[in-house]
Amino acid sequence: MTELLRTESMSVVYGGLHAVNGLDLRVDEGRLVGLIGPNGAGKTSFIDGISGFTRTQGAIHFRGKRVDREPAHRRARLGLGRTWQSLELFEDLTVRENLQVGAERQTVGGFLLDLVRPGRQRDQSDVDWALDVLGIAHLADRLPTEISHGQRKLVGAGRTLAARPALICMDEPAAGLDTTESEQFGRRLRRIVEAGVSILLVDHDMGLVMGVCDEVYVIEFGTRIAHGTPAQVVADERVRAAYLGTKAGI
Ligand SMILES: Nc1ncnc2c1ncn2[C@@H]1O[C@H](COP(=O)(O)OP(=O)(O)OP(=O)(O)O)[C@@H](O)[C@H]1O
Ligand SMILES: [Mg+2]
Repeated sequence: MTELLRTESMSVVYGGLHAVNGLDLRVDEGRLVGLIGPNGAGKTSFIDGISGFTRTQGAIHFRGKRVDREPAHRRARLGLGRTWQSLELFEDLTVRENLQVGAERQTVGGFLLDLVRPGRQRDQSDVDWALDVLGIAHLADRLPTEISHGQRKLVGAGRTLAARPALICMDEPAAGLDTTESEQFGRRLRRIVEAGVSILLVDHDMGLVMGVCDEVYVIEFGTRIAHGTPAQVVADERVRAAYLGTKAGI
């Protein structure tokens, strides 16, 4: 399988705290990879680290290049996309406009072009493609306030998807979805992968993660405690111990 992302002994250190502690993780092309762990395990710190929003130690390889000293916008331009744990949509923009802004914000070039050519017409094809993959084309002209919570989550993912990344790292995209919405969201994730975009999925929704991922990494205190297929991970004693007494119900 073709390697897309690989971290080698990657750490994120805040003060004296190792939020991520020497983590080796790999995402190959065409794969949907889960990253789970209890609250505070270091999942968001890991995504912040690979996408360039926090300083890291160790190596990060993306599409055959070493990127750990590259600024965030250059990693984004290479095709490393991410979503944010606390999703803020632009409430007075339509769904389509939210995706347009998302596509542009991934690149500094987009900002600069806006400065020299304000109001220029954007290429609609990437936005239309993202709306279509996510099955929300029929909502394009609606405002975020007029759609369901599950649909808002799809718009959040669509903003990153519209930049046509090779990899999209999603931080708790299913938070707050009910079971039906979560199942539908899972099907959309598979469609994204079929459309050629690999996914690193961080979520506490075990039904979603175990139902949809090809492989899963489990971390605790920033360290990998298990890696394998969903079935292997669920059966792992260390994983069961890490989740004992949590609400995740593995
Ligand atoms: N900016 C920061 N400065 C200092 N410590 C931080 C910072 N961000 C996170 N931490 C700490 O790093 C550890 C890992 O946090 P992180 O947010 O990465 O965990 P998480 O796995 O995403 O948790 P959750 O499931 O609750 O989102 C925690 O102990 C947290 O308090
Ligand atoms: Mg987090």
